[in-house]
Amino acid sequence: MRQFRIGILGCGVISNTYIADIQRFYKDLQIAACADVLPEAARAHAEKYGIEKACTPDELLADDSLDIIVNLTPPPFHPALNRKIIEAGRNLFCEKPFAPTLKEAKEVLDLADEKGVMVGCAPDTFLSSGLQSMRFYLDAGIIGEPFFVTANMTDFGVETWHPNPLPYYTEYAGPMLDMAPYYLSALISLLGPIESVAAFGAMPGKIRHIYTGPKAGTDIESPILTHYSAVLRMKSGVICSMNMSFDIYKSDLPALEICGSGGTLSYPDPNYGGGCPKVYRKEQYLGTVYQQTEEARKRREQFCELPELYARVKDYSRGLGVLELADAIDTGRKNRTGRDLILHVTEAAEAVRTSAVTGEFYRMQTSCSRPDPIPPGVQADRFC
Ligand SMILES: NC(=O)c1ccc[n+]([C@@H]2O[C@H](COP(=O)([O-])OP(=O)(O)OC[C@H]3O[C@@H](n4cnc5c(N)ncnc54)[C@H](O)[C@@H]3O)[C@@H](O)[C@H]2O)c1
Repeated sequence: MRQFRIGILGCGVISNTYIADIQRFYKDLQIAACADVLPEAARAHAEKYGIEKACTPDELLADDSLDIIVNLTPPPFHPALNRKIIEAGRNLFCEKPFAPTLKEAKEVLDLADEKGVMVGCAPDTFLSSGLQSMRFYLDAGIIGEPFFVTANMTDFGVETWHPNPLPYYTEYAGPMLDMAPYYLSALISLLGPIESVAAFGAMPGKIRHIYTGPKAGTDIESPILTHYSAVLRMKSGVICSMNMSFDIYKSDLPALEICGSGGTLSYPDPNYGGGCPKVYRKEQYLGTVYQQTEEARKRREQFCELPELYARVKDYSRGLGVLELADAIDTGRKNRTGRDLILHVTEAAEAVRTSAVTGEFYRMQTSCSRPDPIPPGVQADRFC
């Protein structure tokens, strides 16, 4: 693959992971420039990571030596900045959420088609070692026919750790837009498209106390629901119970568990790239029917860890989706985090929020086929 010159837009928290991981793991990508509305943030990053150019956002968009611009600004800025990046004729990789509504996502993607630029969007974690291994085992039939999934993000809001938590309590973020995309893209990659959605919402913590950043010590009122419990029916008939929350201090609910006719497949966290799948096979359960031994009883209690089938570059890693987009541009194929997946994930997140407010079932308008799997054993930075 040829070298791709990458421009980073937004030099905040997650840009540190993107830049460090790309520089360390993905040698075909060169971080050539970085920009921020705060010039000192761009300058500090250029110095820290040895990036050749620190500039203003407008200068970044005008730099036609850049192949891809990676939008790492807070969620409320994504739709407008994505339009500007596309208008400037640059290929785009955007952090999640792409847009708050299907309509807005479609408008931006139509513009990209019109301008002939390619677009990818996080999450890219479904491409990584752990979730691709999950997919391999699932497709191989390790748990038979799947029929039920539970996907749970049971965390507290970002106000205890993020330096700028306010954008996460707007119509552009919240648990469904900021966190659910990890789970939705994993579900779609593993089990195919979603058919319909029913959801309920709650707001146990309407007043959020801010612990970090310039507003530390103040309270804000959340204008959005901060907890959602949803049921999704996949086109395949698989039923998914999904809970996405900014209100849970601690829970033992699994992050992702798929139940099938022959057992259960479990994954530690779709937000992370690496992670060993675990399986529980029906034979473990049935073993004690035939032998009442201590060993059989012990075996009946436990999940068994399965090996990851790809190199795990890091437990918590970013940048793989940028590389996959570059590889797609280079080889003239569609990228796996592109239009169809973006629209389907955006609509699913909107569907949950809509159903929670209207109290009605939501039937999905968009669909998307499962992004192509990555063949087991290939290098972490190769896709075919
Ligand atoms: N923080 C995380 O752990 C994390 C993890 C995964 C994904 N993300 C996603 O990454 C994105 C960025 O998150 P973050 O935590 O790095 O945010 P952040 O607030 O730490 O950083 C955002 C940066 O963008 C800059 N910025 C704001 N408006 C801008 C504009 N109009 N033009 C140029 N720069 C602008 C800010 O000055 C800031 O430096 C979000 O979409 C978030 O959901 C964050």
